[in-house]
Amino acid sequence: MNRIGEILSGSLTGKQAEIRGWVYRIRSSGSLCFIVIRDSSGIVQTVASKESLGDMKIKELSGLTIESSLSVTGVVKEDKRSAGGYELQISDYRIFQRNDNYPITKDKGEEFLLDIRHLWLRSREMTSIMKIRSTVFRAFSDFFYNEGYYQTQGPMMVSTATEGGSTLFKLDFFGEEISLAQSSQFYLEVMMFALEKVFTIAPSFRAEKSRTRRHLTEYWHAEAEAAWYANEDMMRDEERMIEYIIREVLERNKEELLMLKRDLSKLENIRAPFPRMRYSELMQKMPEWGLGLKYGDDLGADEERAITVHFDKPVFVTHYPVAIKPTFYHREDPETPGELLCHDLLAPEGYGEIIGGGERIWNLKELKEKLKRYNLNPEDYYWYVDLRTYGSVPHSGFGLGLDRLIWWICGLDTIRDAIPFPRTIRRTRP
Ligand code: 4AD
Ligand code: MG
Repeated sequence: MNRIGEILSGSLTGKQAEIRGWVYRIRSSGSLCFIVIRDSSGIVQTVASKESLGDMKIKELSGLTIESSLSVTGVVKEDKRSAGGYELQISDYRIFQRNDNYPITKDKGEEFLLDIRHLWLRSREMTSIMKIRSTVFRAFSDFFYNEGYYQTQGPMMVSTATEGGSTLFKLDFFGEEISLAQSSQFYLEVMMFALEKVFTIAPSFRAEKSRTRRHLTEYWHAEAEAAWYANEDMMRDEERMIEYIIREVLERNKEELLMLKRDLSKLENIRAPFPRMRYSELMQKMPEWGLGLKYGDDLGADEERAITVHFDKPVFVTHYPVAIKPTFYHREDPETPGELLCHDLLAPEGYGEIIGGGERIWNLKELKEKLKRYNLNPEDYYWYVDLRTYGSVPHSGFGLGLDRLIWWICGLDTIRDAIPFPRTIRRTRP
């Protein structure tokens, strides 16, 4: 058995090959039948002729419809006219399933394609995105393994909020109200005391009521935490990680990026270090960019889009004012009280936030004051408090939305296409 990719590489030219896959396109003239077949490695044109197969068989093949499954055998020839440059001349075949009709035809709307996602994932566009996604997941892990981090896991059913109460998914746990994890951060902080440098890749859940191009209710969260790290130390690992992932995608998935019509020069330009701007510096830029934001305003999707069109690299925004972050765990900068030792990484071309991170409060007194200020019960957070009671150390971490990263790398319109089975405010199927 051969793969279509082997044919496309030229290594089977002039030889007999057997491939199996699905009908991608088909047209017949009565005496000749052209079937473009796809497998996961590509598409190739095959041709059957009445002359060599006889009347019955050519009729049977001509009657096939899109996405029917089959295997074919025959000699491979170079053929400049067919897409990909090769053609297989069918001498024998086997049909596994003949379809009556395939529900996806041209010009279907977005909602229909989401309803029929289980079939739409076979499209060349989705297949390309999923191959890139696979590279991104691997590259993230590889990068952190190479940097001496350990991979670990936290629970998804939890009784403490990390990112504020407004986006918690509540869950009835044998009569006790708990929630789905918004982040694995606090558990990574626990593991950090044993392993010093840790990372995880896990789903995170956010009850986001808004329907935007960048929000999912269940998304894949890649998070890391490192002992002895200050905010700036963490940012240095992150920018190298982003550069590494993009290099890997450019190396392994150039074909897929081109299929998605991605401008490669935009990605080739992504090299560390990335620019850093304090939130206050950013606000001073606003008049120049014709934006009406002022110090103390939150940055939402629209604001980030307007800001990041001015950059051709990701940009770190640091030192957000305490008042605009809903989270209690960031350490305040002792040199500029009222501002946090935290950062967001905003992707260029209008994509906006892909990472949130920073230095954690590690002093017990400071943490207790913050919990009080955010009306949180220290009892609920007893284990998080314990980390600051026994052998506390300075540390930092971050969370990267992998679907958001893929959304940007692929240059997609909506994040929903960056994940196989998107979960949004009104979608739980398929
Ligand atoms: O900025 P966030 O909320 O930060 C945290 O959860 C921290 N606890 C992470 C940490 O320091 N360990 O989320 C981190 C990232 C965002 O920058 C964004 O990329 C992604 O997670 N994200 C979402 N992605 C898709 N849909 C959503 N609803 C998302 N919410 C956050
Ligand atoms: Mg954030």
